[in-house]
Amino acid sequence: MHFIKWTTSIAAGVLLILTTSSMVNAENKEQALLDQARSLFKALPDTAHVDDYPHSKARRELGKALFFETRVSTDGRMSCAACHNPSYYGADSLALSVGVHGKKLPRNAPTVFNTPLLIAQHYGGNRVSVEEQAMKALLSPLAYGNTSYAEVEAKLDKLGYEKKFQAAFPNEPKAISAENWATAIGAFERTLLTPAPFDKYLKGDQKAISKEAKLGLEKFISTGCAGCHNGATVGGQSYQKFGIVEDYWLATGSKEMELLKGRDKGKFHDTQKAEDTYIFKVPQLRNVAVTPPYFHDGSVARLEDAVRVMARVQLGQKLNDVDVANIVAFLQTLTGEVPAQFASAPSLPVAGFQNQP
Ligand code: HEC
Ligand code: HEC
Repeated sequence: MHFIKWTTSIAAGVLLILTTSSMVNAENKEQALLDQARSLFKALPDTAHVDDYPHSKARRELGKALFFETRVSTDGRMSCAACHNPSYYGADSLALSVGVHGKKLPRNAPTVFNTPLLIAQHYGGNRVSVEEQAMKALLSPLAYGNTSYAEVEAKLDKLGYEKKFQAAFPNEPKAISAENWATAIGAFERTLLTPAPFDKYLKGDQKAISKEAKLGLEKFISTGCAGCHNGATVGGQSYQKFGIVEDYWLATGSKEMELLKGRDKGKFHDTQKAEDTYIFKVPQLRNVAVTPPYFHDGSVARLEDAVRVMARVQLGQKLNDVDVANIVAFLQTLTGEVPAQFASAPSLPVAGFQNQP
């Protein structure tokens, strides 16, 4: 009797030691993964505003109105929101965006969320700031189609924007200007940050992301994805060749494009330098699960396939289905909420506008 009791209690004790030590091990492993994640990624900051571009409530509100304003484009239909739509997480859901007068753009529209935190704007990085991006879009023959900033300023005046610009840019003799259009839109864009479950995890909440997501995070790091997709925006911090192991179009099915005189060569189109051939800005992966289709031309529809393409052409690896599913589970933890100030439509000035054919 005693003997049985004695052995059972020893067995229970051994079991207790074993389970506690494996729990301690598991906890250590979880902590090690979190430490590693913290060394590669960062939680999003609270704001993307910078001293170079002072903002105010009036400026942010004007920026929001201008972001949705279509009547400045030459067909009266294009606005930032036309291609960066609240219903599609700041993107447009199309493989290739459709611009002014129905012209097809050669590239896929990335989300506008968190973009002020990127190294530069556009796949080729030919726009330094979101402000420069917003200003140059006005004269892009594919986006707004205007031929001069004076033309834009006259339109804004006619639409009745004078008071809003004056409130946003007080003490300026000429409040309506293309620069101020850009500064106001930038002030608004700099509010569009999307904190996600992954940020809670980085701040120490182990329960913020699932077991699968943690396995995916581990795989994302061990496979080498984080070598390019890192920092607060999980990408967007460097330029890299797309197609390191093999030509990217063999895996994506990307087509030649008339406008680019062949396959998209990335930064080369902006610099004309041979060493920039097929160099693209590494995209951020925040909100990637909700912004298909993928790559600079939207050539891949599903995230699982985009992950496989990346492993193949960037790292020469073939991931199994479980690894792909786990990496996707991790990428889903980067989905934030559509910012409230972006989700609601602004009221725009009422004006006797007539669009030109
Ligand atoms: C006709 C569709 C269209 C319109 C209109 C448009 N965009 Fe875009 N936007 C795109 C496409 C396509 C890209 C990718 C261009 C590239 O990488 O070469 C892009 C890129 C961007 C980027 C860079 C994102 C990144 O990750 O690099 C920002 C920021 C942006 N647009 C903001 C705006 C703002 C602000 C406006 C209004 C002033 C605007 N866009 C108007 C389609 C559009
Ligand atoms: C050597 C750098 C590098 C590595 C390593 C890398 N990527 Fe990428 N990734 C890029 C570049 C550059 C692009 C943009 C390609 C393009 O569209 O032109 C990209 C695009 C993506 C996209 C599409 C994003 C979008 O919005 O269209 C996903 C998803 C992605 N990478 C995930 C991964 C995963 C998962 C891994 C690891 C298996 C990985 N990447 C490894 C550089 C890299």
